[in-house]
Amino acid sequence: MGFGLAVLGSAIGLGNIWRFPYVMGEYGGAAFLLVYLLVVLIMGLPLLLGEFAAGYHTHADGVGAYEKITPERPWRWAGWPGVAAAVVILMYYPVVTAWVAQYLWLALTGDMSVPAGAAQDARFVALTHDGLAVLLAQAIVLCVATGIVAAGVVSGIERTCKVLMPLFAVLLVGLAIYGLSLPGAQQGVDFMFHADWSAVLRPETWLVALGQALFTVGIGMGVMVTYGAYLPDSHALPRIGFTVIAGDTFVGLLACLIIFPAVFSLGLAPAQGPGLAFVILPEVFERMPGGNVAAVAFFLLLLIAALASMVSLLEVPIAVLMSRHGWRRLPAALLTGSVAFLISLPVALGEGTAWLQLDGMPTLLDLADRFASYVLLPLSALAIALVVGWRWQEKAACDAAGVQGIRARRLWWTSVRWLVPVLLVIVLVSGLVTA
Ligand code: PFF
Repeated sequence: MGFGLAVLGSAIGLGNIWRFPYVMGEYGGAAFLLVYLLVVLIMGLPLLLGEFAAGYHTHADGVGAYEKITPERPWRWAGWPGVAAAVVILMYYPVVTAWVAQYLWLALTGDMSVPAGAAQDARFVALTHDGLAVLLAQAIVLCVATGIVAAGVVSGIERTCKVLMPLFAVLLVGLAIYGLSLPGAQQGVDFMFHADWSAVLRPETWLVALGQALFTVGIGMGVMVTYGAYLPDSHALPRIGFTVIAGDTFVGLLACLIIFPAVFSLGLAPAQGPGLAFVILPEVFERMPGGNVAAVAFFLLLLIAALASMVSLLEVPIAVLMSRHGWRRLPAALLTGSVAFLISLPVALGEGTAWLQLDGMPTLLDLADRFASYVLLPLSALAIALVVGWRWQEKAACDAAGVQGIRARRLWWTSVRWLVPVLLVIVLVSGLVTA
């Protein structure tokens, strides 16, 4: 149970509350949801089990595990795209976490309310453009996250997640019920459940859904390998894998049920990009009775969820430094935390300063996010599927993944060996070519 909750704590984060709704808003609502569900079940679950299995079997980190399974080149390098993805995600994850911290501060100081209308929009722009404040918030959240990883992950994370995840779910359900009670909410629900089928035919939708699935569950960054290495017994892995995917998707859906009804009841557009949650949620809190208390609770929990995810992200390079280069945990954590601060500076400032933005170009945050989610993570997933499915023995892999029963073993093995790599190549190539 502790293991499952720790994995869930890593999975649930900004990907669910911040990323899922805005990506869904941009890629056609229900059609995207359907594609996402297919992708996460058909590709995400087998890959997640593959990562767990590699960690459980080798007791190594996200790079070393594949080297142990297959020492030959180029297969032994299969873990590196995941480290690259973790580093690129660390370029912007702390920045968005810093925004959450800033909103928490606003809520705590009772400064959430703004004159009606599009003002929350203006507030978001002003807040993200205040480079110094963002940097300060970013330094604080990174210090906290670095402190947690420096102290050692397992017990701290497990304990925190046990308390927080249920609390988080209760709050989300409450807010979703409130969101649904807003006037005009029906349009938001319609948007979520009425599919624009043409989106299903666009290869780009599939690539975006794949990137979202890998990002939000946390597949392809070596994190699940590291976690798998901690388990004493692999029997429960398939059940845990399925529960984590279901729980993570449930949280993403709840976030949408809060955000889309509110978007429509405020007369705003659902395709707003990365600012969506930050513009809509404060507006919801402003309107509801006792909104300020709810705002404090919500941003606090979101901050903690984001921190727990960031901790597991930092753990990827730290584990590599420790096991490959013999570093001790404290210096490894300090170096990784400092590097994360430095590499996220351009994104933090790029959101706010004109000199880092070219006309008509996406912001640095958008670029980093797209590169990580739609290129590095799918490549990393492909490398994992190929090593597990083609460089490992069927029996050893199925045992390590804890898959039982002849049919289930066949199904999983055929998936990682054939289905997942073939689908990954099709989705990646067609998506990139058409996007
Ligand atoms: N899954 C996290 C989220 O949805 O916010 C992000 C993340 C955390 C990705 C940890 C990868 C990871 F290793």
